[in-house]
Amino acid sequence: MRQVRVLDEDRMEERAVAVRDQALLDTQRAFDGVASAYDRSNADNPTLCEMRRRTLAEVTGHVPAGGRILDLGCGPGADDEALARAGYRVTAIDWSSAMVEETRKRIARARLQDRVDVHHLGIQELDRLPPSSFDAACSNLGPLNCVPSLADAARLIGDRVRPGGVLVASVIGRICPWELALYACRGNWVRLRVRFARHSVPVPLAGGTVWTSYYTPGEFERTFVAAGFTRVSLRALGVFVPPPYMDRFAARHASLIARLRRLEDRVGAWPGIRVWGDHFLMVLRKA
Ligand SMILES: C[S@@+](CC[C@H](N)C(=O)[O-])C[C@H]1O[C@@H](n2cnc3c(N)ncnc32)[C@H](O)[C@@H]1O
Repeated sequence: MRQVRVLDEDRMEERAVAVRDQALLDTQRAFDGVASAYDRSNADNPTLCEMRRRTLAEVTGHVPAGGRILDLGCGPGADDEALARAGYRVTAIDWSSAMVEETRKRIARARLQDRVDVHHLGIQELDRLPPSSFDAACSNLGPLNCVPSLADAARLIGDRVRPGGVLVASVIGRICPWELALYACRGNWVRLRVRFARHSVPVPLAGGTVWTSYYTPGEFERTFVAAGFTRVSLRALGVFVPPPYMDRFAARHASLIARLRRLEDRVGAWPGIRVWGDHFLMVLRKA
């Protein structure tokens, strides 16, 4: 009887690993498929540009120029180029080989190869990099929402950042007021509930699937505290301003959006407000 139970547990474990690996593959393929057009679509989206500006400002505000930065889920390398130009030494990693190729080309075009190393590596594979080798890690616009286990990722990141170093992460949150309003108006209750799932969910991306886990700032912080970090700051990104995918609405209402952006600038870090938003931006320090 005991032997049967052990066999069942082994089979369940194997199945869990297979499901996890398939999800990672789906996500990789989805990002491979959009890599060549990704940078242009980001650069053309003012909301995304503003979110990026904020994340980079946190990095440069916490890490002196010349510091070593690990970029987790670098995409096509916009942040890596900006950070290298600002005098940092960057190690950029991404799970999508096509994104890695885009970053390599971009860094070569900018002649910044001496300041940026690019690796085809998943966050879940960070143990392939040497421990305690970075002054900071950053992750912009949601790569940490795509890892199979946030607790494992937190531990791996914690091992790579030196004591006293920081993690700057922009993460897709659970409570996005514009999204709730949008899908409530459309009566689309299934879509409205997506961000509240307790497990990772399949999110369509240009014909592919990105397996995505959503977090409240509290859930995210607790996971990183368990890995030896403490929170330094938190602010909402996209609490009054609509999420990046509502770009056509934003373009039609440019002066309203400009006012909302100013409001978000002023109060986005206030308690009660900072826990909402399309994304949140958290800075954590390694003990
Ligand atoms: C929304 S994009 C953001 C890219 C980039 N940080 C930026 O700001 O433009 C998410 C990126 O995370 C990468 N990614 C997804 N899962 C990952 C994983 N497990 N490990 C590393 N990168 C991952 C994707 O390939 C994609 O390039």
